[in-house]
Amino acid sequence: MNIYILGIESSCDDTSAAIVQNNKILANIIANQEVHKKYGGVVPELASRAHQQNIIPVIERTLKTAKVNKNQLNAIAFTRGPGLLGSLLVGTSFAKSFALGLNIPLIEVDHLQAHILSHFIQDKKINKKVPEFPFLCLTVSGGHTQIVLIKDYFKMEIIGKTIDDAAGEAFDKAAKILGLPYPGGPLIDKFAIKGNPNAFRFPKPNIPGLDFSFSGLKTSFLYFLRDQLKNNKNFIEQNLTDLCASIQTTIVSILIEKLKRASKQTGINEIAIAGGVSANSLLRNTLLKSEKEFGWNVFIPEFEYSTDNAAMIAITGYFKYLIKNFTDQKVSPYARSISY
Ligand code: KG4
Ligand code: ZN
Repeated sequence: MNIYILGIESSCDDTSAAIVQNNKILANIIANQEVHKKYGGVVPELASRAHQQNIIPVIERTLKTAKVNKNQLNAIAFTRGPGLLGSLLVGTSFAKSFALGLNIPLIEVDHLQAHILSHFIQDKKINKKVPEFPFLCLTVSGGHTQIVLIKDYFKMEIIGKTIDDAAGEAFDKAAKILGLPYPGGPLIDKFAIKGNPNAFRFPKPNIPGLDFSFSGLKTSFLYFLRDQLKNNKNFIEQNLTDLCASIQTTIVSILIEKLKRASKQTGINEIAIAGGVSANSLLRNTLLKSEKEFGWNVFIPEFEYSTDNAAMIAITGYFKYLIKNFTDQKVSPYARSISY
């Protein structure tokens, strides 16, 4: 029997809907919000208003693309959190009323678990290689940086996390200091390709165990540029590609060092990455090299499933549907991360 799940994602500034037929993706539509660019970051009130405008057209397009009638849907999965409350409320309210109207189950999904489970999405490629349990996942996004030990679909343990900024935040803040628009991560990646990663050195934090810290790096980058700009007001323009390459190398090497430590500590060589920063080309290439160097089995999500998307919500919904893990209509969203 085929199970059709509609997934809805509205935790931050992307309105997305997707439909899976079992574990295969039929449609994954994402409406990005351009409105935040000029503010240098996501403006919560504007995000929630844009979600309200986008949600119905996005769902309609998803059903049309998937060639699925709403009456064929078996359940509605939605992001309950973590995220911006006003944004989450739009997706949650829509999912609740749609499920109620169609008289089908409602399934809440944790955004971070969904990033990890995006590795199980099957699409055009037949029998895509998926991670085997137990595996480690470095989840790196604009709001989170975690190393998670995944024992089963819903048995996850966070074994390392950031004590301050997230990796994506480090990219975005460095970009902002350089005068680049939000989100700066993809732009740093783009400019870094032409730069020298050893042109400038920035200190890496010395945090014990598997935890991360990025706030010191941001401060040292800011102070370094402030000093350079005193002598040369064109310093950034003249060194943009080298600055991007150098900061990117530092962030990626902080991430990889901890991942190596986590693999050594747990004895697990099945290594995945997830979240927006997993789109970073240096991180992806370094991991691919590590596959040979450390004997790792590496899993890198396709670009479409790296940054926020509803395909990951729909696939997580499918696995929850199989174990009948449904949600009551009384549900309300949560802004902060809950433990798995
Ligand atoms: O997972 P995501 O789409 O949203 C959150 O859940 O936060 O992640 C967004 C983050 C942003 O900080 C963005 O700058 C970063 O992912 N990002 C990148 C790249 N693409 C997106 N960072 C570095 N290099 C990239 N290519
Ligand atoms: Zn995300």
